[in-house]
Amino acid sequence: MDNNYQGNQNDLVKLIQRYELELEHRIKSENEINMIAKMLTFPDQDNINEILKILGKMTKVDRTYIFEFKDNLKFMDNTYEWTAENAESEIENLKNLPSDLFPWWMKKLKNNETIVIEDIEEIPAEGNNEKEMLKDQSIKSLLVIPLFKDSLKGFIGFDDIKSKRKWNYADIDLLNAIGNLILSYWDNVDKTKKLHQVNKELSQTVSSMINILVNISVERDPYTKDHSSRVALIAENIAEEFGFQSNELSTIKIGAQLHDIGKINVPRSILFKPGSLSELEFEMVKQHTRFGYEIIKDVNLPNVIKDIVLHHHERNDGSGYPDGLKEAEMPFETRLIAVVDVFEAMTSHRAYRPSLTVDEALSYLDENKGIMFDQEIVNCLKSLYL
Ligand SMILES: [Fe+2]
Repeated sequence: MDNNYQGNQNDLVKLIQRYELELEHRIKSENEINMIAKMLTFPDQDNINEILKILGKMTKVDRTYIFEFKDNLKFMDNTYEWTAENAESEIENLKNLPSDLFPWWMKKLKNNETIVIEDIEEIPAEGNNEKEMLKDQSIKSLLVIPLFKDSLKGFIGFDDIKSKRKWNYADIDLLNAIGNLILSYWDNVDKTKKLHQVNKELSQTVSSMINILVNISVERDPYTKDHSSRVALIAENIAEEFGFQSNELSTIKIGAQLHDIGKINVPRSILFKPGSLSELEFEMVKQHTRFGYEIIKDVNLPNVIKDIVLHHHERNDGSGYPDGLKEAEMPFETRLIAVVDVFEAMTSHRAYRPSLTVDEALSYLDENKGIMFDQEIVNCLKSLYL
């Protein structure tokens, strides 16, 4: 009786110890799963290799890997791999494998079935090809989890080389859950790649459209082309001094390239007229800001570009056109192009007058800074030339 009691007690202690170990393993696994879930939140980072390492160490297998199918499941590639110190890498040997060489394996995976092989000697005859391939890699037992979302995408495998293993259901469930996380991650990576591609194509379309607009205006007025390009360059240099970032600099450059686009609607006889313009002719030239705005107002461009086109002849004191805006009513970018436009025009040759020197143009801007022109922008322009 006493012996039985003692025996029962020992069994109970062993059971509790096993339970504690199991619990410890489970908590540790859950922490690792949380870490993996976090790693899979960032679709820009390729963390799959690191995840295979965590899974390999967590399950104490010798090799973890991912295969991906291609060409409508016709071929498979070993795309990721982690190996323990004692195990040899196989990834380079396992590329472009024809799926139909492994019919037993494929049938299970296509049915979204987890493959658990405790002893590869027990693989049935229909899986002979698979058995040979696994033996070639010295595998004793393995677990394969299909990566299946709507259809089969690939699989994750866990190889044991040193000894056979009996997988428990809780671990298999856990690894299946990780398989699903990896599938969602791939989905996100795909979506992000597609989004980048769409953005790239869109910006290429916008660039082509801007080039077309600029080229059309150049056909009529070569002065405007050179003028706009130089305004873009100087404005970019000043904006850089003010700490603008690359996408903001691009916007300023596009605004500068397009700022006089409305001149396309001003008669050439007026644009190229030597000597001074009549009041009516000058009124027609002034219309180029509104013409330009009308051309681009419905195009999907940043508003600041449209503002530059419409308001680059405004002056801080309200003496400009077309709306007589004052300093606070204009974005920095428009005030910038206003200054650079005047500077570039004054230092270039025009049909109606020869060019002024840089010093003369800077003196004019300096005299009018804080009145017609933005003081800080004029100071910055001066600092670039003096
Ligand atoms: Fe203009």
